[in-house]
Amino acid sequence: MLLASDENGQFMTEMDIADKILGLLIGGHDTASAAVTFVVKYLAELPEIYNEVLKEQMEIAKSKKPGELLNWDDIQKMRYSWNVACEVMRLAPPLQGAFREAINDFVFAGFSIPKGWKLYWSANSTHRNPEYFPEPEKFDPSRFEGSGPLPYSYVPFGGGPRMCPGKEYARLEILVFMHNVVKRFNWEKLLPDEKIIVNPMPIPAKGLPVRLFPHIA
Ligand code: HEM
Repeated sequence: MLLASDENGQFMTEMDIADKILGLLIGGHDTASAAVTFVVKYLAELPEIYNEVLKEQMEIAKSKKPGELLNWDDIQKMRYSWNVACEVMRLAPPLQGAFREAINDFVFAGFSIPKGWKLYWSANSTHRNPEYFPEPEKFDPSRFEGSGPLPYSYVPFGGGPRMCPGKEYARLEILVFMHNVVKRFNWEKLLPDEKIIVNPMPIPAKGLPVRLFPHIA
């Protein structure tokens, strides 16, 4: 960013660069942190889902020599775990939505939207549309089997040319986290009815305290 100029030879201002770096830090850290927090929350609440994730992760763990790190092939084997993470991000999308600007006049659902208007697209309400997600409140990782949800019906990472560029890195981060935590521990929530606050990411109000139970070897 310091070295790149645009087609008119203009460089970015320091404020612009600072803005991009802050955006990257927040966009890259708080989102994935919210995602793994809700993975921990849902796995505590849904023991049958936890058990399936455990089964998948232990198969991978058993195939490794002591101290051997996860590799790319291992990540590809974590299909069920990723379906679970996707279902977590359907019900608790880290980013609730974002803004777009209409580049043309258009009509949507009987509303005329003039060119230049700012529009908000909501991941939260899209993910709960029963037309695309039957029984939307039900936690069901099988929604992501096969070809999965229709394009633009599942948008935790947005869509189109400005879609999240960190998606694949986030997938890696979430799956490595799930592997390392699930293979060592089971856990229970200490506050059964902890409230969720959204500021701007959803997060359990008291920081999701849990009690860990190490697996007996
Ligand atoms: C679970 C984790 C993450 C979620 C849910 C998430 C979600 C999103 C969403 C919804 C957008 C807006 C896309 C749009 O407007 O269509 C976005 C943009 C962006 N994300 Fe992520 N993100 C995650 C992780 C990351 C990571 C790890 C990085 C960087 C290492 C990152 C960097 C960015 C950047 C730079 C943008 C702006 C892209 C642009 O405007 O062209 N994100 N993200």
